[in-house]
Amino acid sequence: MANFFTSSIGRKFIQSISGAFLILFLALHVTINFFTVIDSAKGEFGAPDGLFQLGCDFMSLPIVKIMVPVLALGFLIHIIYGIYLTVVNLKARGGLKRYESGSKGKADSWSSRNMVVLGLVILGILAFHLTHFWAKMQLLDFMGEEAWNPYLLILKTFQNPVILCIYILWFVAIWLHLNHGFWSMFQTVGWNNQIWLKRLKVIGIVVSTLLCLAFVCVAVNGYIEAHCDTASAQYVKPLLDQIAMLK
Ligand code: HEM
Repeated sequence: MANFFTSSIGRKFIQSISGAFLILFLALHVTINFFTVIDSAKGEFGAPDGLFQLGCDFMSLPIVKIMVPVLALGFLIHIIYGIYLTVVNLKARGGLKRYESGSKGKADSWSSRNMVVLGLVILGILAFHLTHFWAKMQLLDFMGEEAWNPYLLILKTFQNPVILCIYILWFVAIWLHLNHGFWSMFQTVGWNNQIWLKRLKVIGIVVSTLLCLAFVCVAVNGYIEAHCDTASAQYVKPLLDQIAMLK
């Protein structure tokens, strides 16, 4: 068994299973976040019974909350094995200059050669993201304090154009990381048939584009709600007043 965790295929297998789990998390996360865009379309962004509020209430049910340590473990395994895989591969291929002489390096996509760098950028901004939302909701909840209004947090975060741009850069990094990660995950678990590999590359691009575009819509929608007079103004105005008082 110890061999499995350190063997070449074992390492990649763990990386792909933990990656699949993280993609499922992202799909659920973006679905609930996208409720804010639907709320806006209905003029209910910020309403106490808005769709996004219901989504957040669902995420704070005890049965969902016990998933948090599992999720954290999934991230940890993916990060540790990602770095480990990269270091082992670098050593096997002769260090950082390996791409200068071989032809394989040129055939690899930019994303595939930069998975670990992209992963570290994603991780850095994830820490920033957790201070905006998780620390003011679930963490407070765990400590027995009242969580902040999730619409208020969206407005407070995305009303700042610099933070909006950092988030958009983050989504681009995630898009690049998933573009390679998606089909590579299937290749690792044995779907290495050439026709299917081509199809999976296309499906990977479609899935990562949909996920990341949906995240961009949520962030840009938050910016619009904070700055424009929208159909949800009756709910948004009091939240913006609260934000102004916090400053
Ligand atoms: C527009 C983009 C995003 C918004 C508005 C957003 C919003 C939120 C909110 C409201 C929470 C707190 C949920 C709670 O505590 O009940 C949260 C937590 C979290 N977010 Fe995001 N998120 C976004 C993008 C992302 C992305 C791209 C990732 C992953 C790379 C991510 C990873 C996480 C993680 C790991 C947590 C903590 C676990 C959890 O509470 O489910 N988020 N986010």
